[in-house]
Amino acid sequence: MKEKKPGILKEKLPKLSNLSMNRNVESKKEYIDALKKHRNLGDYKNAIENMEKIISLEPYNINYQIELAHYYYADKQIIKAKEIAKDLLNSHKDDIEVLRLNIFFEILDHNYQESLDLALRLLNKNKNDISNYLNITGSLIELKRYDEAINFSQQSLKIEKNNPSQIANLVKAHTYKKEFKVAFEYVKEIENILPNHSVIPSLGIFLREQLSLDTQFKYLNNPMHFIREYKIPNDDIDKNFFNDLIKYSKKLPMKWEPKNKTTLSGYQTESSLFRENKYPVSKLKDVIEDKIKNYLNSFKGIEDLFIKNFPKITKIKGWTVMLEKNGYQNSHCHPEGWLSGIFYIQIPENKKDNDGSIEFSTHGYDYPKINNNFKKITIRPEEGKLILFPSSLFHKTIPFTGKDQRISIAFDIIQNQTN
Ligand SMILES: [Fe+2]
Repeated sequence: MKEKKPGILKEKLPKLSNLSMNRNVESKKEYIDALKKHRNLGDYKNAIENMEKIISLEPYNINYQIELAHYYYADKQIIKAKEIAKDLLNSHKDDIEVLRLNIFFEILDHNYQESLDLALRLLNKNKNDISNYLNITGSLIELKRYDEAINFSQQSLKIEKNNPSQIANLVKAHTYKKEFKVAFEYVKEIENILPNHSVIPSLGIFLREQLSLDTQFKYLNNPMHFIREYKIPNDDIDKNFFNDLIKYSKKLPMKWEPKNKTTLSGYQTESSLFRENKYPVSKLKDVIEDKIKNYLNSFKGIEDLFIKNFPKITKIKGWTVMLEKNGYQNSHCHPEGWLSGIFYIQIPENKKDNDGSIEFSTHGYDYPKINNNFKKITIRPEEGKLILFPSSLFHKTIPFTGKDQRISIAFDIIQNQTN
């Protein structure tokens, strides 16, 4: 029996380490391809699975870990996403991207002292990061440290002169300081740069009224004119449809008094109501689309950019609000939307005239006022009533005393910038 020459055997096989490396390279490519495919389809669960496989091959790559946190966030696994962010911060406390990730989560949680501390740390690493300046001034405003917010805004405007978001922070800080004239000068400045910036039809209109000025705004000059009520006819919608909407809503993830929302004594679902286009939400979407056509037709010829430049491609984001007895929503507006709406599906019997009504106002949030020169419109809710209004208009609900839940669906029509 011939003996095998060990040398030959050795030459035919590659070294174990090289083999493993080649396999790793092949596997990594495979996982990256699969990751891209799932990510593009919005399938974040499988994107996470592939990202974790990639990380098992390259456990020390911070960028992959950051990407993984983003996928967990996109998949609504917020706690897991934050855990990854925190772990990364413990091991890489001065990494720019790790800091950015953690600032994002602190702001999301309304932890403004923490977001400020991290943003100031990031400022030491990069003095020209405009979005970081926005995080600093935004956090300072939330912490009611208006003078510091103004200082940082001005510093950042030296780097990028016409940044509308940063000028908008100046508008907010001066408004909180009751320096309405200064704030209004900044509103006019923004209008020259970006006439549809959300601060103009909200705070801009309020400041104009407080100062008794007659300045005309290009985007939306009189928001109260753009509230419309519709009663959905009974033959279009029966009681079953309302019940189906309630059942459908109750299956969605929801929170009691969600932290970053204005709902009190009530549940609010995630904004995923229209994510799947199936009954009953598909039917509701058709009704809404029909009424929006009607709405826009009723304003034909109007010069306000809110109507004239109404986005051709839009997406709808909706959520359900279920208020218990004495429940209400604090004053707010919807900066992300262009046009917003409410559809009432269950309204308890009203004991008092304005019980559970919605109040639109040009004054909102907790902005200070120097007089009562602002407009208000109150609308009583009714089952089957649909209200459309500019997203920038402040609104709140008046607490109701009825026993049953008050259930409504709210939605935003958002300009789809990805198309
Ligand atoms: Fe709202």
